[in-house]
Amino acid sequence: ASTLGAAAAQSGRYYGAAIAQGHLGESAYVNTWNTEFTSVTPENEMKWDTVEPSRNQFNFGPADQIVSRARSRGMSVRGHTFVWYQQIPGWVSGLNGNDLRAAISNHINQVAGHWKGQIHSWDVVNEAFEENGTRRQWFVQQRLGDGYIEEAFRTARAADPNAKLCYNDYNTDGVNAKSTGIYNMVRDFKSRGVPIDCVGFQSHLGSGANLSSYQANLQRFADLGVDVQITELDVGGSGSGQAATYRAVTQACLAVTRCTGITVWGVTDKYSWRSSATPLLFDGNYNKKQAYTAVLDALNGG
Ligand code: G3I
Repeated sequence: ASTLGAAAAQSGRYYGAAIAQGHLGESAYVNTWNTEFTSVTPENEMKWDTVEPSRNQFNFGPADQIVSRARSRGMSVRGHTFVWYQQIPGWVSGLNGNDLRAAISNHINQVAGHWKGQIHSWDVVNEAFEENGTRRQWFVQQRLGDGYIEEAFRTARAADPNAKLCYNDYNTDGVNAKSTGIYNMVRDFKSRGVPIDCVGFQSHLGSGANLSSYQANLQRFADLGVDVQITELDVGGSGSGQAATYRAVTQACLAVTRCTGITVWGVTDKYSWRSSATPLLFDGNYNKKQAYTAVLDALNGG
C-alpha cells in the first residue's frame, strides 16, 4: 500500500495524526491529512479549557470542525481528553469536594454526550502518574483522592457506551516504574470491573530512545485484556536515527495483536509542539521524510 492509512489497514489498524483546527485553511495540510491518515486526534480542541471555559458553557465549534471533516471521510476520531492537569480552566481549580466531583461528572457527561457514537476512543484521564509510579499530586488528586480516576471511567462509560475508554500517559516506553504504576492500576480496574478498554502510550521520543522493552511493555498491558494504542508519537533528531526509531515503534505495535493503531502528534514539522525539533513524518514543505519511508515500509511488512 502506498499511504500510511492504507498500509496500516492491511492489518486492521488505523494510522492517525493530531490535527489543529487553526490550520484547516491550509490546503497542503488538509490534503496530507486526507491522503495519508485514517484517524484523527484534535490536538487541543477537546481539552477542558477550550470546551468548557466557563462552568456549564460549552464551546464545541473548533473540535466539531475536525470531527465533521473526519467523519465525512470515514476516519475514526480519538477524543482527547476529559481529565488532565493541564489546560484546565481557572474556575475548576477553585472547587472542592462534591462540587468538584459534580463539575468533573458534568464535564464528561456533556462532552461525551455531544459526540456520543462518534468517538472511537476517549482519553478519559491523561498523565495522572509521576515518574516513580505514584499518583501525580495535582489538585484533583489531593482533593478527591485516588477514586477520581475510576469515577471518570464509570461516568464516561455511561455517557458514551460505544467509545473505547483509555488511560493515556508519556514516558511509558518500556517496563519502568511509571508504566508499572499504571499497569497495577489497570490490573486493579480489570479485576474490579471498572470500565477501561485501552491504554495509550504517547511515545514522545528521541532518536536515541532505548526501546528494548517497548514491545514487551505493550504486550503486558494487552495481556491484562485491554487494547493498546500509540497515541502521540513523535521522534526527535533526523535522518536514519529518527527513521530507525519510528520503524522500531511501528514494528512493536504490529507485533502486538491488541495494538490497534498509531497516531503521530502532528502532520508537519513546522507545526510540531516541539518547536525547535523536527520530529514528524513530513517536513515543513510536506515532503515525505526518511522516517515516513521507514514507517510505510514497516507497515507493509518490510
Ligand atoms: O491558541 C492560543 C492562542 O490563542 C494564544 O494566543 C497563544 C498564546 O499562548 O496560545 C495558544 O494556545 C496554545 C495552544 O497550544 C494552541 O497552539 C497554548 O498556549 C499551548 O500551551 C498549547 O500547547 C499544547 C500543549 O499540549 C498544552 O499543554 C500543544 O499544542 C499540544 O501539542 C500539547 O499536546 C500534549 C497532549 O495534549 C498531551 N500529551 C503531551 C502533548 C505535548 O505537550
